[in-house]
Amino acid sequence: MDDFFRGRRLRRTPGLRRLVRETRLSPEQLVLPLFVEEGEGVRRSVPSMPGVERTSVDGLLDDAREAVELGLGGVILFGIPGTKDEVGSEAWAADGVVQRGVRALKEAFPQLVVITDVCLCEYTAHGHCGLLEAEGPRVRNDPTLELLARTAVSHARAGADVVAPSDMMDGRVGAIREGLNREGFHDVPILSYAAKYASALYGPFRDAADSTPMAGDRRGYQMDPANSDEALREVWADLEEGADMVMVKPALTCLDVIHRVRREAGVPVAAYHVSGEYAAVMAAAERGWLDEEAAMTEALLAIRRAGADIIVTYWARQFARTQ
Ligand code: PBG
Ligand code: ZN
Repeated sequence: MDDFFRGRRLRRTPGLRRLVRETRLSPEQLVLPLFVEEGEGVRRSVPSMPGVERTSVDGLLDDAREAVELGLGGVILFGIPGTKDEVGSEAWAADGVVQRGVRALKEAFPQLVVITDVCLCEYTAHGHCGLLEAEGPRVRNDPTLELLARTAVSHARAGADVVAPSDMMDGRVGAIREGLNREGFHDVPILSYAAKYASALYGPFRDAADSTPMAGDRRGYQMDPANSDEALREVWADLEEGADMVMVKPALTCLDVIHRVRREAGVPVAAYHVSGEYAAVMAAAERGWLDEEAAMTEALLAIRRAGADIIVTYWARQFARTQ
């Protein structure tokens, strides 16, 4: 009996457990999403995401300062424009809310990695991620590409370190790469949301970003949660078009996909621990049904264990404060 494997030998003390821990998690692997809107002195909470706030550019700087002090890996910016229209033109406006936010951030904290989400859904009146056909809520693919490229270039011009297209149009990574290169931004990497599923877990984000589609849904462009081979095809396509990093989203419902992508992709893999994953734990914790810190830490560790190099999470600051 005594010669047998006894798993509990290595679990006996905190020191032994720490010594043999296979997966480590540290603040520099986490990216914090930040929502920026027009105005000054604005700071409003997002009801479905306790602890998450939308701010104007001045408040953004306060949040970013904390991210720097806590040693986070970076921030990813989402904009809520003052006005929306059919084509989402505020998305690429030189003085748009994200563009001003990026400029302010890079001026104040040159060392902070600033990633921008590139999509149209926060900027279009109809709330879809691309241009619509004249009839019905079908999103047009190719005409959308040029607008995404224009948006990415405007972010790069403002000083973004990385652009992250989340629209799921076919060919957008290639179009964005070409657009960036044409304007001299050869050095700006693309983090593509390559395997992005049509998920019920984005609801709180859409409250925060005010981007719920007015009609229809996103199943015509985001992936069917039933598929995983398809995720690899999306990843290969994006890598061929020039993606420098790829993202899987959501995270906990896609641990198998993260694992497969990690094994195959050969580039840094990010996973997005999305709004609904965050909101579910926070809501249960508010009721005393779950321990927030224990449940969140376990979730983030599992995402790392599955193979994510980078985790985008609303809980990044809280995690860093526990270290
Ligand atoms: C925009 C975008 C979304 C998210 C990230 N970028 C929303 C969507 O696709 O509807 C979701 C993030 C989250 O739920 O935390 N395309
Ligand atoms: Zn979108």
